[in-house]
Amino acid sequence: MCLANIGGGLMLDHLKANNRAWAKQKVTTDAGFFKRLERQQAPEYLWIGCADSRVPANEIVGLDPGELFVHRNVANLAPPQDANYLSVLQFAVDVLNVKHIMVVGHYGCGGVNAAVDGKRRGLVDHWLHPIREVFHEHRRELGSIPDERARQDRLCELNVIRQVRNVASDVFVHEAWARGQSLSVHGWVYSLANGLITDLGVTVSQPTESLL
Ligand code: CO
Repeated sequence: MCLANIGGGLMLDHLKANNRAWAKQKVTTDAGFFKRLERQQAPEYLWIGCADSRVPANEIVGLDPGELFVHRNVANLAPPQDANYLSVLQFAVDVLNVKHIMVVGHYGCGGVNAAVDGKRRGLVDHWLHPIREVFHEHRRELGSIPDERARQDRLCELNVIRQVRNVASDVFVHEAWARGQSLSVHGWVYSLANGLITDLGVTVSQPTESLL
């Protein structure tokens, strides 16, 4: 007996119905939509964002399937030893030739907050270690912010800036620049409160000593 099949036909029916309606609507407005995407994807952007369900990458920048290459994990990290992130980055840069990479954090990030609240959670504590390093690096600035929420928000921003540095100092990115490829790395933060993105103004478009 296969447990997965018990009631399987009735499970998640609303999602399957949503899917059929969505696919139908796409074809209604653009008959060749799926045929075109089936042949190839040619996104200009790589989005590195948080796994948080409230930050749906394509939706908040109004992009369709095929237009945004997406990598999401807890607290939008770009750890230089993470094979998953590195594989995505190399494919996006070397094969898809994306022109922009956006590291997108969000205010109120549970991962960022969990990194520094002193509670032990297990494996995720290891994953979030880079954020504790960012916290330590900027402890003076963060310590001068009396409001806890404002302090957390600033740590979200500092984490994004650090991840932009990681991406912009990566070998794949430097090789792309060396062969004359146009590629910029941006740092954004999304607000759950109003749905708006703030550009942190830390864009890197060439090898930069000051950032690395
Ligand atoms: Co988050």
